[in-house]
Amino acid sequence: MKSYEIALIPGDGIGVDVTEAAWSVLTKAAAGAGFALEGTTFPWSCAFYEETGAMMPADGIATLRKFDAILLGAVGWPVRVPDSVSLHGLLLPIRKSFVQYANIRPHRLLAGVEGPLKKTDFDILCIRENTEGEYSGAGGRVHQGTSDEVAVETSIFTRTAVERILRFGFEQARKRRGKLASVTKSNAQKYSMVFWDAVTAELAAEYPDVEVTGYHIDAMAARMVMAPESLDVVVASNLFGDILTDLGAAIQGGLGFAASANINPDRTAPSMFEPVHGSAPDIAHLGIANPIAAIWSGAMMLDHLGEAGAAKAVMGAIEAATARGIGTVPGQNKTSEITAAVLAALA
Ligand code: NAD
Ligand code: IPM
Ligand code: MN
Repeated sequence: MKSYEIALIPGDGIGVDVTEAAWSVLTKAAAGAGFALEGTTFPWSCAFYEETGAMMPADGIATLRKFDAILLGAVGWPVRVPDSVSLHGLLLPIRKSFVQYANIRPHRLLAGVEGPLKKTDFDILCIRENTEGEYSGAGGRVHQGTSDEVAVETSIFTRTAVERILRFGFEQARKRRGKLASVTKSNAQKYSMVFWDAVTAELAAEYPDVEVTGYHIDAMAARMVMAPESLDVVVASNLFGDILTDLGAAIQGGLGFAASANINPDRTAPSMFEPVHGSAPDIAHLGIANPIAAIWSGAMMLDHLGEAGAAKAVMGAIEAATARGIGTVPGQNKTSEITAAVLAALA
């Protein structure tokens, strides 16, 4: 039987619950489709940091490299470990080391889910640059604690990374409704975003069949609320994409519905699948986290592994549950109830 090796990193807070939920659905879908998922769980988290002094072992990246894919819950427990330590010690190095340069985040309403907007017919694919930009980690602080203190955070935009993410966006637009929105702030940022616009214009010449529109990030934020149906593929830098995809999550009913895939399109290293949301310390241990974002992310993993049939079955099961109102109102159903409903629909 065909088998895939999956690294499971549940992480912190609700990451643990939603990963367990997603794994139960994915393994059942695999069995139904005639292949196996072999999971290896890594306890890398803020608790692991407190025990060992590191978010993952020194050979963590080398260990993960052997897997077919990574399924991650959420990382971060800010009252115990600063986010700047936990995220830069685990999540962000995985994205960067494995050149998972395309962070794909779909935003649409699942059957039975009422978002906060009157418009319900939107289907947006946000594609976020995932390796550099505002997340480059370049900078420093001088004269700390004095009135002369200065902090510098340098965004780095390379032609390689800007070109490949925009090209990825053009290709996705071509497969969808042929529209690409490129998001910058080139009215205020003179170098990086003007450069991004220039690369967009260069590539547009290669994709005459794709309709390209440039938007400033502020205007895009408003458009996603006022006219989400006007958007198809939206490409943005690391930070802008981060912010827009929590907005995307909101218009699709909440963070419990927002899935994401960190893709290495060249397949030179494993890709990673995780919900958009974090560890949600405010609801951790209450058993009410919505696992749908994690399960949907798992469906994206199956698709990436080439198991489109099983991915479709998982999405069908999610929507069979939500169409009956299970998991559609935040806090109304337990994580276990929502998972059970998806599992039952898969049968
Ligand atoms: P968060 O996404 O964890 O939570 C924001 C709000 O959304 C909270 O009110 C939370 O209860 C709610 N929420 C999130 N997911 C939910 C779900 N599945 N079901 C129901 N409600 C849900 O964001 P935050 O509070 O800013 O971050 C908490 C921690 O998680 C921080 O350490 C942060 O850095 C980290 N974080 C990690 C990731 C990741 O690992 N990919 C993503 C975002 C935040
Ligand atoms: C996300 C998260 C992360 C990000 C944080 C936790 C570093 O918000 O995956 O959207 O900004 O990429
Ligand atoms: Mn985010």
